[in-house]
Amino acid sequence: MRTSTFSLTSLPLFLLLFFFFFFFSLKAITAKNLIPETCKKCVQDDPNLSYKFCVTSLQAAPKSSSSDVRQLGTISMNLIRHNMTSTRQHIKHLLKNTKLDKFLRVYLEDCLDLYSNAIPDIKKALRSYKAKQFRDANVRVSGVCDAPVTCEDGFHEREGLVSPLTKRNNDAVQLSAIALSIINMLGSLGFKLI
Ligand SMILES: *[C@@H]1O[C@H](CO)[C@@H](O)[C@H](O)[C@H]1NC(C)=O
Ligand SMILES: *[C@@H]1O[C@H](CO)[C@@H](O)[C@H](O)[C@H]1NC(C)=O
Repeated sequence: MRTSTFSLTSLPLFLLLFFFFFFFSLKAITAKNLIPETCKKCVQDDPNLSYKFCVTSLQAAPKSSSSDVRQLGTISMNLIRHNMTSTRQHIKHLLKNTKLDKFLRVYLEDCLDLYSNAIPDIKKALRSYKAKQFRDANVRVSGVCDAPVTCEDGFHEREGLVSPLTKRNNDAVQLSAIALSIINMLGSLGFKLI
């Protein structure tokens, strides 16, 4: 008699615990797979984007492993902001060199302008994104992405000039592709499901 009382009262508790653990392990698995899943979609949207770059960049960001897609979008835009701010500092540093080739200087100054204008725009893009104005966010991030492209093209206009910013420009373009793809994923969902 005593045993059956025990099992009857503990059964709901057992079930509760079971569902509790089931739910949380499922949530953990989903979050862990979300970055590769999201990056797969991003690469489908833009074949120039490297899957490995996407996964590594997002995984390196703090809290990304517990983020949903919307938060990954925010993370990607913050990565662009940090990246571009650091590149802007780097250009300023390069320009301090008084022995700089005069043509290199001209193009670096163009790049400084481009990056300086793009940084406030990425902040605006993030604001639009947080307000769920995905169309606005898309237009702004596309604009921001022109900065590294135009900067890089400049150096190639002149024969013999080597861009000192190729890797940084590429990083900015790739990060923008990630952000754009996530913005479009959410935009096309129209948030009907959320
Ligand atoms: C991919 O890169 C090529 C060459 O740089 C460019 O012409 C093309 O527009 C890019 N595609 C996308 C989707 O950005
Ligand atoms: C820019 O972002 C990429 C990808 O997250 C990273 O590998 C690179 O170190 C960053 N560059 C700078 C200058 O912050």
